[in-house]
Amino acid sequence: MPRKLRSVTAIYPGSFDPITNGHLDLIERGSHLFDRLIVSVLRNDSKEPLFSAEERVEMLREVVQEYANVEVSCFNGLVVEHAAAYSATVLLRGIRAISDYEYELQMALMNRRLRPGMETVFLLANEAYSFISSRLVKQVFGLGGSISGLVPPSVEERLGRRMSEIRKKGA
Ligand code: PNS
Repeated sequence: MPRKLRSVTAIYPGSFDPITNGHLDLIERGSHLFDRLIVSVLRNDSKEPLFSAEERVEMLREVVQEYANVEVSCFNGLVVEHAAAYSATVLLRGIRAISDYEYELQMALMNRRLRPGMETVFLLANEAYSFISSRLVKQVFGLGGSISGLVPPSVEERLGRRMSEIRKKGA
Protein backbone atom coordinates (compact mmCIF):
# COMPACT_ATOMS: atom_id res chain seq x y z
CA MET A 1 0.00 0.00 0.00
CA PRO A 2 1.48 3.43 -0.89
CA ARG A 3 2.35 5.52 2.16
CA LYS A 4 0.29 8.62 2.70
CA LEU A 5 2.46 11.72 2.70
CA ARG A 6 1.29 14.46 4.98
CA SER A 7 2.82 17.27 6.83
CA VAL A 8 2.71 17.21 10.64
CA THR A 9 2.47 20.39 12.70
CA ALA A 10 3.30 20.14 16.40
CA ILE A 11 2.72 22.62 19.20
CA TYR A 12 5.22 22.84 22.06
CA PRO A 13 3.27 24.65 24.78
CA GLY A 14 4.64 25.98 28.05
CA SER A 15 5.18 28.93 30.34
CA PHE A 16 8.82 29.47 29.26
CA ASP A 17 9.40 31.95 32.11
CA PRO A 18 12.17 32.03 30.94
CA ILE A 19 13.31 29.57 28.27
CA THR A 20 16.11 27.28 29.44
CA ASN A 21 18.65 25.21 27.52
CA GLY A 22 16.47 22.19 28.35
CA HIS A 23 13.57 23.77 26.40
CA LEU A 24 15.94 24.72 23.60
CA ASP A 25 17.23 21.16 23.31
CA LEU A 26 13.65 19.92 22.99
CA ILE A 27 12.90 22.55 20.33
CA GLU A 28 15.91 21.51 18.29
CA ARG A 29 15.00 17.82 18.47
CA GLY A 30 11.33 18.59 17.76
CA SER A 31 12.33 20.61 14.70
CA HIS A 32 13.87 17.45 13.22
CA LEU A 33 10.79 15.34 13.95
CA PHE A 34 8.00 17.57 12.71
CA ASP A 35 7.44 19.56 9.54
CA ARG A 36 6.40 22.63 11.49
CA LEU A 37 6.89 23.30 15.18
CA ILE A 38 5.07 26.11 16.97
CA VAL A 39 6.47 27.03 20.38
CA SER A 40 3.47 28.44 22.23
CA VAL A 41 3.74 30.62 25.30
CA LEU A 42 0.86 30.45 27.78
CA ARG A 43 -0.10 33.98 28.78
CA ASN A 44 -0.54 33.00 32.44
CA ASP A 45 -0.74 36.48 33.97
CA SER A 46 -2.48 35.09 37.08
CA LYS A 47 0.75 33.21 37.95
CA GLU A 48 2.60 36.57 38.00
CA PRO A 49 5.41 35.51 35.67
CA LEU A 50 8.81 37.23 35.90
CA PHE A 51 8.59 38.09 32.19
CA SER A 52 5.48 39.24 30.33
CA ALA A 53 4.14 37.00 27.56
CA GLU A 54 5.53 39.48 24.99
CA GLU A 55 8.99 39.33 26.58
CA ARG A 56 8.92 35.54 26.67
CA VAL A 57 7.90 35.43 23.00
CA GLU A 58 10.72 37.86 22.14
CA MET A 59 13.31 35.81 24.04
CA LEU A 60 12.15 32.63 22.30
CA ARG A 61 12.23 34.27 18.85
CA GLU A 62 15.82 35.40 19.47
CA VAL A 63 16.98 31.85 20.14
CA VAL A 64 14.96 29.85 17.57
CA GLN A 65 15.84 32.01 14.56
CA GLU A 66 18.19 29.35 13.22
CA TYR A 67 15.42 26.74 12.88
CA ALA A 68 13.55 27.41 9.64
CA ASN A 69 10.50 25.33 10.57
CA VAL A 70 10.07 26.73 14.11
CA GLU A 71 7.70 29.60 14.96
CA VAL A 72 6.75 31.21 18.24
CA SER A 73 3.25 32.18 19.30
CA CYS A 74 1.28 33.04 22.39
CA PHE A 75 -2.04 31.71 23.64
CA ASN A 76 -4.75 31.97 26.26
CA GLY A 77 -7.30 29.31 27.10
CA LEU A 78 -7.24 25.69 26.03
CA VAL A 79 -4.11 24.47 24.33
CA VAL A 80 -6.12 22.08 22.13
CA GLU A 81 -8.10 25.03 20.71
CA HIS A 82 -4.86 26.87 20.03
CA ALA A 83 -3.45 23.74 18.36
CA ALA A 84 -6.57 23.38 16.20
CA ALA A 85 -6.13 26.95 14.95
CA TYR A 86 -2.79 25.84 13.50
CA SER A 87 -4.19 22.48 12.29
CA ALA A 88 -1.65 20.88 14.63
CA THR A 89 -2.19 17.23 15.50
CA VAL A 90 0.65 16.83 17.99
CA LEU A 91 1.47 18.41 21.34
CA LEU A 92 5.15 18.10 22.21
CA ARG A 93 6.25 17.91 25.84
CA GLY A 94 9.45 16.97 27.62
CA ILE A 95 9.83 14.56 30.52
CA ARG A 96 12.78 15.17 32.82
CA ALA A 97 12.14 12.67 35.58
CA ILE A 98 9.47 10.29 36.83
CA SER A 99 8.08 13.18 38.92
CA ASP A 100 7.00 14.92 35.69
CA TYR A 101 5.10 11.88 34.51
CA GLU A 102 1.91 12.14 36.59
CA TYR A 103 1.24 15.77 35.68
CA GLU A 104 2.02 15.12 32.03
CA LEU A 105 -0.17 12.02 31.94
CA GLN A 106 -3.14 13.97 33.33
CA MET A 107 -2.66 16.76 30.80
CA ALA A 108 -2.21 14.38 27.86
CA LEU A 109 -5.34 12.39 28.74
CA MET A 110 -7.38 15.55 29.32
CA ASN A 111 -6.23 17.02 26.03
CA ARG A 112 -7.06 13.80 24.18
CA ARG A 113 -10.52 13.79 25.79
CA LEU A 114 -11.08 17.42 24.79
CA ARG A 115 -9.89 16.78 21.25
CA PRO A 116 -9.75 13.12 20.21
CA GLY A 117 -6.96 12.61 17.71
CA MET A 118 -4.67 15.11 19.40
CA GLU A 119 -1.58 13.12 20.32
CA THR A 120 0.94 14.19 22.93
CA VAL A 121 4.47 13.17 22.00
CA PHE A 122 6.97 13.05 24.86
CA LEU A 123 10.69 13.42 24.44
CA LEU A 124 13.02 12.50 27.28
CA ALA A 125 15.01 15.51 28.37
CA ASN A 126 18.68 15.45 27.52
CA GLU A 127 20.39 14.13 30.70
CA ALA A 128 22.63 17.22 30.74
CA TYR A 129 19.54 19.35 31.35
CA SER A 130 17.25 16.99 33.24
CA PHE A 131 17.62 18.91 36.53
CA ILE A 132 16.89 22.36 35.04
CA SER A 133 13.60 24.18 35.47
CA SER A 134 12.72 27.83 34.89
CA ARG A 135 11.75 28.05 38.57
CA LEU A 136 15.18 26.84 39.81
CA VAL A 137 17.04 29.01 37.31
CA LYS A 138 15.21 32.12 38.63
CA GLN A 139 15.80 31.13 42.23
CA VAL A 140 19.51 30.40 41.84
CA PHE A 141 20.11 33.53 39.77
CA GLY A 142 18.15 35.68 42.24
CA LEU A 143 20.37 34.39 45.05
CA GLY A 144 23.56 35.17 43.16
CA GLY A 145 24.40 31.66 41.89
CA SER A 146 25.75 30.95 38.42
CA ILE A 147 23.31 29.84 35.74
CA SER A 148 25.91 29.87 33.00
CA GLY A 149 25.23 27.06 30.51
CA LEU A 150 21.69 26.56 31.80
CA VAL A 151 20.01 29.28 29.73
CA PRO A 152 20.97 30.96 26.44
CA PRO A 153 23.33 33.97 26.99
CA SER A 154 20.64 36.43 25.79
CA VAL A 155 18.28 35.10 28.46
CA GLU A 156 20.97 35.38 31.16
CA GLU A 157 21.40 39.04 30.20
CA ARG A 158 17.67 39.70 30.42
CA LEU A 159 17.49 37.96 33.78
CA GLY A 160 20.28 40.22 35.02
CA ARG A 161 18.42 43.33 33.88
CA ARG A 162 15.11 42.15 35.34
CA MET A 163 16.64 41.27 38.71
CA SER A 164 18.37 44.65 39.00
CA GLU A 165 15.07 46.39 38.12
CA ILE A 166 13.37 44.42 40.88
CA ARG A 167 16.15 45.25 43.38
CA LYS A 168 15.93 48.96 42.48
CA LYS A 169 12.16 48.93 43.02
CA GLY A 170 12.60 47.22 46.38
CA ALA A 171 15.35 49.62 47.53
O1 PNS B 1 5.61 24.78 31.18
P1 PNS B 1 4.36 24.47 31.92
O2 PNS B 1 3.99 25.62 32.82
O3 PNS B 1 4.44 23.17 32.66
O4 PNS B 1 3.21 24.36 30.81
C1 PNS B 1 1.91 24.01 31.16
C2 PNS B 1 0.95 24.18 29.97
C3 PNS B 1 1.05 25.57 29.41
C4 PNS B 1 1.34 23.18 28.89
C5 PNS B 1 -0.48 23.88 30.48
O5 PNS B 1 -0.71 24.59 31.64
C6 PNS B 1 -1.56 24.22 29.46
O6 PNS B 1 -1.65 23.62 28.42
N1 PNS B 1 -2.40 25.21 29.82
C7 PNS B 1 -3.46 25.67 28.96
C8 PNS B 1 -4.83 25.36 29.57
C9 PNS B 1 -5.33 24.01 29.11
O7 PNS B 1 -5.40 23.71 27.94
N2 PNS B 1 -5.71 23.15 30.08
C10 PNS B 1 -6.23 21.81 29.80
C11 PNS B 1 -5.14 20.81 29.56
S1 PNS B 1 -4.47 20.26 31.06
